[in-house]
Amino acid sequence: MTKTKKQEWNSNLAFMMAMIGSAVGLGNIWRFPNVLYSNGGGSFMIPYIVSLFLLGISFVLVEYAVGFKFKRSIARILFSIHQKLEPIAWFILLIVFLITTYYVCVVGWDLIYIVLSITKAWGSNPDLYFANNVLHATDSLSGLFSIVPNVLVSVFLIWLFACLILRRDLNDGIGRVSQILLPLLCLIVLGIVIFSLTLPGASIGYMQIFTPDWSALGDLNVWLAAFGQIVFSLSLGMAIAMTYASYLPEGSKLVDNALVVAFSNSGFEVFNSIGIFSILGFMAVTSGIPFNELVSEGTGLAFVVFPQVFNTMGSAGSIVAPLFFLCILFAGITSVIALLEGVCYSISEKFLIERKKTATVVCIIGFLISVIFTTNAGSTILGIFDAFLNNFALVFAVFLECIIFGWIYKFDDLIAILNDNSSIQVGKTWKIVIKYILPICILGLWIQGAYTTITTADTISLSIMGLLTVILIVVPLIFAKMTARNKDYYKV
Ligand code: PFF
Repeated sequence: MTKTKKQEWNSNLAFMMAMIGSAVGLGNIWRFPNVLYSNGGGSFMIPYIVSLFLLGISFVLVEYAVGFKFKRSIARILFSIHQKLEPIAWFILLIVFLITTYYVCVVGWDLIYIVLSITKAWGSNPDLYFANNVLHATDSLSGLFSIVPNVLVSVFLIWLFACLILRRDLNDGIGRVSQILLPLLCLIVLGIVIFSLTLPGASIGYMQIFTPDWSALGDLNVWLAAFGQIVFSLSLGMAIAMTYASYLPEGSKLVDNALVVAFSNSGFEVFNSIGIFSILGFMAVTSGIPFNELVSEGTGLAFVVFPQVFNTMGSAGSIVAPLFFLCILFAGITSVIALLEGVCYSISEKFLIERKKTATVVCIIGFLISVIFTTNAGSTILGIFDAFLNNFALVFAVFLECIIFGWIYKFDDLIAILNDNSSIQVGKTWKIVIKYILPICILGLWIQGAYTTITTADTISLSIMGLLTVILIVVPLIFAKMTARNKDYYKV
C-alpha cells in the first residue's frame, strides 16, 4: 500500500484559482510595468499579445496535457517517457526550489514593509532606508556572516506559512488559500487603480501605456522582452501547471481552462500597470522628477519609488501604502506555494514520503538556504542567483521541455487529450508552434540572457554562478540515481 494519497481538486474553481494564483506574482506587479515602458509603451502590447497566444498559451497547454495524461509528478513523467530523462526533471525542480529560496526573501521584505508603511517609517529618504535600515546591505561578500534579524524573522514567517499550507490536503490548503487570497488581491488592486486614476497627473502616467512607439516593433530585443515576460509571468516550465493539471478529475476542459488562466494573468498585469503608471504620473507632477527616471523595476520600484510616492500622498498614503504591500504579499504567497508543490509532489511520489513530512522537510531546507539572503550580503547574492537562475537556467529548462514534449514524446497523443472535453480545439498549428517556433524563440531568449548574464558579471558573480552550475548538475543526478521506495514509480 502506498502512503501517499491520490489527490484531486474538488472543483474546477479551486484549480483555476490556484493556477491564477501561481501565475500572478511579483512579476506581474513590478516587472511588467517596467518591461512595458522600456519596450515601446503601447506598441509593446503587439509582441506581448503575440507571445501570449503563440508561445505562452501553447506551452501552458503542453504542461496541462502532459500533467493530465500522466497524473504523476514531473520526475515520474520524465522517467516514464525515457529513463534517462529523469535527471532533467530534478534539474528543473532544483531550479524552481532555488528560485523559491530567494523569492520568499523578497516576499519577506514586503512583509516588513507592511509594518513600516503604517507609520511610513522609511522617512524622507526611502532609498537609504531600504539599503541601510532594512537590508543592512553590504556590496562585498564580507557581510555574509552577519544576519539581519528582522529579515530573518519575516523570511521565517513566510516559510512557516507556506509549510502550514502545503502540509494540508490539496483542497484544504492550496485550494482554500487561493480562493481567499486571490479575490482579496483583485479587490485591493481594483481599489488602488480607481484611487490612482483620481490623482492629479494620473493621465501623464497611464497615457504612456497607450502611446505607442511603433519603431520598437522592428527591434528583436522588444520581441524577446515580450516573450521573456510571458515565460516569467505565466511561470512557464516550472512544472506548476503540470502538477496542478495532474490533480484534475476526468472530463476537465483543459483548453478552456488554460485560456481563462492566461487571460486572467495578463489582464491582471495590464490592469495593475494602469494603477502603477498613474501613481508614477502623480509623482512626476508633484515632485518634478521626469517620468522616465521614476520607472524602475523590482525592489527599486516597490521599496524605493513607491514609498517616495506614499510620502507625497499625505494621509491617503497611510491607507494606500499598507494595501499596496499587502497586494505583493498575497500575490507572492500564492506563487511560493505553487512553486513548492511540484517539488514536494516529486519527492513524495518517488520516496513514498507522506505529504506533511515532505512539505516540512522541503520548507526547512528551503528556509536554511534562504538564511543566506537574510545576511548583510543577502541582497547582492540574491541578485546573482536571480540573474543566473532566471535568465540562464530556467530558460534552458523550458527549452529542454520543448524538445522533450515536442520531439521525444508522442506529441499527437497530447492533441487528443486536450481536445477531448474542451469547447476550443487545438490542431496542427499548435504542433508546429511547439515543435519549431517555440524552441527557436526560447533559444533566442536563452542566448540573449546568457550573453547579458555573463558579460555583466564580475568575478564574485561568476564564481557563485559556477558553483550553482555544479550544484545543478550534481544534485539532480544524485536524485535520479537514488532508488525509488515507491515500486509503482518504475512502472512506465
Ligand atoms: N509568475 C509568478 C510571478 O510572476 O512572480 C511566479 C514566478 C515566476 C516566480 C518566475 C518566480 C519566477 F522565477
